[in-house]
Amino acid sequence: MMSEDFDFSTEIAGVRFKNPIFTASGCAASGKELSQFFPLNELGAIVTKSIMLKERSGRPTPRMAETPSGMLNSIGLQGPGIDHFLENDLRWLQEQGCDVIVSIAGESVDEYGALARRLRGQRGIKAVEVNISCPNVADRGQVFACNPVAARAAIEAVRINLGGDFPIIAKLSPDVTDITEIAAEVIGAGANGLALINTLLGMVIDTVSLKPVLAGRTGGLSGAAIRPVAVRAIYQVRARFPQIPIVGMGGVLNGEDALQLVAAGAQAISIGTASFGNPMSAIETRDELAELLRSRGFSDFTSASGAAHE
Ligand SMILES: Cc1cc2nc3c(=O)[nH]c(=O)nc-3n(C[C@H](O)[C@H](O)[C@H](O)COP(=O)(O)O)c2cc1C
Repeated sequence: MMSEDFDFSTEIAGVRFKNPIFTASGCAASGKELSQFFPLNELGAIVTKSIMLKERSGRPTPRMAETPSGMLNSIGLQGPGIDHFLENDLRWLQEQGCDVIVSIAGESVDEYGALARRLRGQRGIKAVEVNISCPNVADRGQVFACNPVAARAAIEAVRINLGGDFPIIAKLSPDVTDITEIAAEVIGAGANGLALINTLLGMVIDTVSLKPVLAGRTGGLSGAAIRPVAVRAIYQVRARFPQIPIVGMGGVLNGEDALQLVAAGAQAISIGTASFGNPMSAIETRDELAELLRSRGFSDFTSASGAAHE
């Protein structure tokens, strides 16, 4: 449990959160299911699933496959679109007293701009997380996050349309040669925080049909299997950009896992796949992390961030 002599708050892109454990985009929808298990405002923030401009039904089934220590999903960006989200889900999250980070995803630079315009001036949003692991329809479906020019253009469109210095967290893909190069582009475009990492692209083949298990053929790999990739990506980006806050995610199942990402340089931790197996995992991770930090002699969370670099 937390205690009064330990400061568990954290700051991301100029915003203070009461604790550093968030949900991961897409793994808790807009929070309603998790709220049956604990009050959502016990987490530092709720990161919504990625919201798109228009309603979408996602990709064909099957769209989940189990993998050793993880899972592969090809859900695609399913959801009712930004207007429905703002009227229903955002309002509901605000009523729960949550700090909300809204994740957005577009299929073109213009769509990122349009989404940012819809969010401009909305009350009760602490930051916008920009999921750029989406195919760019204007460029043969090439993923924004895997191309420095496209990654920059998407974040620039959000920055221009969101205005001022509203906190923007750019979420990057580990499926690149040098993640710090993409980080440099999105920081240059106006991101004031980074979310690391999105899923890795994978495939599972059924050994009877000899065809890919997922209808979409490929899917995003998440869960414990990707944790070392997350730790590496966070470490590399923190080493090159020590001033840029990082929301870390990728295979965190408990407080020990979270501590690895924190020591690598994360200032907050999002819990994704672990919540599917154990809906309480974010709360348990929060309490375990606080205990671990106290037992290592820390009186506040922030001073543990990046400890692996010293
Ligand atoms: C079923 C599923 C849906 C996801 N949907 C999104 C999404 O809408 N937007 C996004 O940025 N990331 C999405 N992600 C990626 C997670 O937010 C996270 O970056 C990734 O799964 C690594 O964390 P984890 O190992 O704790 O799940 C999704 C992941 C899963 C497993």
